[in-house]
Amino acid sequence: MPSVYLQTFGCQMNAADSNGLAHQAWSLGCSFTETPETADILIVNTCAIREKAETRVYGRLGQLKSLKRPESKLLVTGCLAEKDRAVMRSKAPWVDALLGPREYGAFKALLADWGVPTDLPPRDTPLQMPSSETLDGGADALEYSHLRSLVSITRGCEKFCTYCIVPYTRGPLESIGPEEIESQVRREVRCGAKEITLLGQNVNSYLYEGLNFADLLRRVGSIEGLERLTFLTSHPHDFNREVVDALAEVQNVAPRLHLPIQSASNEVLQAMGRLYTVEEYLEKIAYFRERLPGWALTTDIICGFPTETEHDFEATLELVRRGTFEYAFIFAYSPRSGTPAATMTPQVEPQERLRRLQAVNSAQLDSSRRFHERFIGETVRVLSSGPSKKDAAKMAGKTGHNVTVVWPRDERTLHQAFVDVAIDQAHSWGLIGQVA
Ligand code: SAH
Ligand code: SF4
Ligand code: F3S
Repeated sequence: MPSVYLQTFGCQMNAADSNGLAHQAWSLGCSFTETPETADILIVNTCAIREKAETRVYGRLGQLKSLKRPESKLLVTGCLAEKDRAVMRSKAPWVDALLGPREYGAFKALLADWGVPTDLPPRDTPLQMPSSETLDGGADALEYSHLRSLVSITRGCEKFCTYCIVPYTRGPLESIGPEEIESQVRREVRCGAKEITLLGQNVNSYLYEGLNFADLLRRVGSIEGLERLTFLTSHPHDFNREVVDALAEVQNVAPRLHLPIQSASNEVLQAMGRLYTVEEYLEKIAYFRERLPGWALTTDIICGFPTETEHDFEATLELVRRGTFEYAFIFAYSPRSGTPAATMTPQVEPQERLRRLQAVNSAQLDSSRRFHERFIGETVRVLSSGPSKKDAAKMAGKTGHNVTVVWPRDERTLHQAFVDVAIDQAHSWGLIGQVA
């Protein structure tokens, strides 16, 4: 049976799609390998959100060209496959096939073309992905990867923020029916998932035959055995009080909200096509803070968007300095050809974008550290990710707030999903403690 090498770039959406592709290949009898040299089929699931993401993908495709056996097949999937469909043939002519994010229905037929028999009885053993990290204690990365699971609730996005490539690569918004979502969540929980993340580019735009996101949260939240429920990403235009009220009701929802602001200047927000003002954003989070005290609010920020002035940038910096966010993902603007922002004038110089990014980043690190300091002396419940990648003598995991926690490895907690950790140190990246 053919063996498959699968590498994923990009966001959780891509991770969820990779999981779906892996299941399809597995059900046809394929096995998986971590070494491209031995694979019969290589799949690279790609991202195109910023130039850096594309550069990394093309770099990897170049490496795979020389690593793979000449007769093995190379499939490129994901957002870059869609975006660079017309140029991939000249940029990476050794790629054998492309499938964009809306074409995974054609995956099995492609495998059949490549000689994978599709008429065998489906196999019913659970998917086994390779793990290079089998450890002496018998625990391996596989054991932990099952604890968290991603479930898509929408496909595509039609917000067309002026900087963003996603609506072009993933197409228009579609909501998945609640029964299908619930049955996937149940299946994941049966297979050992403790934390489920409901995924969509804008989960607040979920709508299926009159059922909205708040309704869906209540339904999924009541599934038995589900310990931690969370969701990504919310859009400030569509996020509303009804969602906050549902979050306050659902018992097992994790205390965190990711609500990307992008900028704290109304002029910039308007140029981005974000459909809200700073005042509206602040009003929404004021209600959120009032109803859900103690939650972590995280955000995305773009620095150096075209037309952003020093004054605009200062407004964003000031909002971050005030400790508005517990954590932020901060990006330098990256022009994406074909999007309206790429041709807006004036563009901010790349050097200046970077300077602004670093200033916002350092303000956020201070804020994150202050947030983490509040946990010193407390015992937190951590969902384990297993032995730390950086230091196998340590264990790592995440709290409900999504804060990273590290503690010394011990046999007792090696196989536990949830571990109680008494916190004694706080850093901007997270917390250190001892098993309680
Ligand atoms: N759908 C989500 C996430 C989209 S991509 C949302 O609307 O928030 C994740 C983040 O990447 C975005 O929130 C934005 O901050 C950043 N991003 C998207 N396009 C970008 C670009 N061209 N340059 C820099 N950052 C970008
Ligand atoms: Fe991109 Fe905006 Fe859609 Fe998010 S909401 S995926 S930033 S277009
Ligand atoms: Fe995700 Fe990258 Fe596509 S962030 S939606 S994989 S462009």
